[in-house]
Amino acid sequence: MKDTPLGFVKSTVIKRIDWDDHLFSLRVQAPANAFPTPAFTAGQFSKLAALNEQGEWVRRAYSMVNKPHLTDDQIELEFLVIEIPDGKLTPLLGHIKEGDQILVGTLPAGFMTIDEVPETATDLWMLSTGTGIGPFLSILEEVDQCQRFEHLVLVHAVRTKAELVYKDKIMALMKTYQGRLRYVPIVSREDVSGALSGRIPQRLQDDSLAKAAHVEPSIEKSFFYLCGNPDMIHDTRDTLQQMGYKKHLRREAGQFSFENYW
Ligand SMILES: Cc1cc2nc3c(=O)[nH]c(=O)nc-3n(C[C@H](O)[C@H](O)[C@H](O)COP(=O)(O)OP(=O)(O)OC[C@H]3O[C@@H](n4cnc5c(N)ncnc54)[C@H](O)[C@@H]3O)c2cc1C
Ligand SMILES: NC(=O)c1ccc[n+]([C@@H]2O[C@H](COP(=O)([O-])OP(=O)(O)OC[C@H]3O[C@@H](n4cnc5c(N)ncnc54)[C@H](OP(=O)(O)O)[C@@H]3O)[C@@H](O)[C@H]2O)c1
Repeated sequence: MKDTPLGFVKSTVIKRIDWDDHLFSLRVQAPANAFPTPAFTAGQFSKLAALNEQGEWVRRAYSMVNKPHLTDDQIELEFLVIEIPDGKLTPLLGHIKEGDQILVGTLPAGFMTIDEVPETATDLWMLSTGTGIGPFLSILEEVDQCQRFEHLVLVHAVRTKAELVYKDKIMALMKTYQGRLRYVPIVSREDVSGALSGRIPQRLQDDSLAKAAHVEPSIEKSFFYLCGNPDMIHDTRDTLQQMGYKKHLRREAGQFSFENYW
């Protein structure tokens, strides 16, 4: 195999979950000493890399779905990936099986974390499309750190019911949070009972998101994290701004922040 590029280490795929024919999760195990301590903060992303047919490394960013998890001298990282038919890396990842090796980045990064949420916010709204739910699941696994919030609202907007991933994990988290975690699925291209229809900005505007979550958003209490499709982020930013919310800056506290996936 070609030399491992700087900032990457070999990992072994220890689990693969296929949610649909184009949507899957990969859990990898890598030597912990290749990572900083702690290896990452919930909500951050790392990188995956594979060799293409031309023998070149193709690398892309992927958020961890889990919180840092150590077993002896190994660290486990789990990623949720959607295969883009003409993409450069994801069709290669689509062929990966349990037991295969893949390169994982050793320098996780990103600011969509619990400690970046202003202390004054008591309700954390996590608005995601598609694979953008990943970092929020990681954040929710940090139960002790999330005790500071009165309400946690997890919104997952997808095209089809099959893409409503990690249902068991979410149900277990809802039990753990004893009513403080509200889960609102939105499905845009199928009618699904128990899920809202349409898109996040519409559902914010017409108050149906708040009604489904049984949480009333307010400038004083709410903080919104947005993650996934850049068009969703653009339109949701506009909607939030029309509702009176401001983008959060370190030098001037606001009520929302985001991570674009492309
Ligand atoms: C900070 C960060 C975190 C990310 N985390 C994840 C993650 O956890 N899971 C994940 O699947 N992707 C994630 N991505 C996107 C990922 O880095 C790749 O861009 C994606 O997997 C496509 O790679 P590719 O080489 O197959 O496609 P490319 O050849 O790079 O084609 C890119 C095109 O695919 C589309 N696209 C890219 N990502 C997505 C996506 N997630 N959903 C739908 N359409 C997409 C866009 O139209 C984009 O222009 C993240 C990106 C960033 C910047
Ligand atoms: N191989 C396959 O069979 C297959 C199947 C599906 C997808 N894919 C690939 O995966 C990619 C799509 O992945 P995805 O479904 O996770 O992503 P997506 O297109 O980002 O859709 C996720 C959700 O975001 C919504 N959305 C889109 N634009 C929005 C906006 N401006 N404001 C608010 N919400 C918005 C969508 O609603 P709408 O439905 O209303 O757009 C949908 O509910 C495609 O580009 C395709 O390449 C492949």
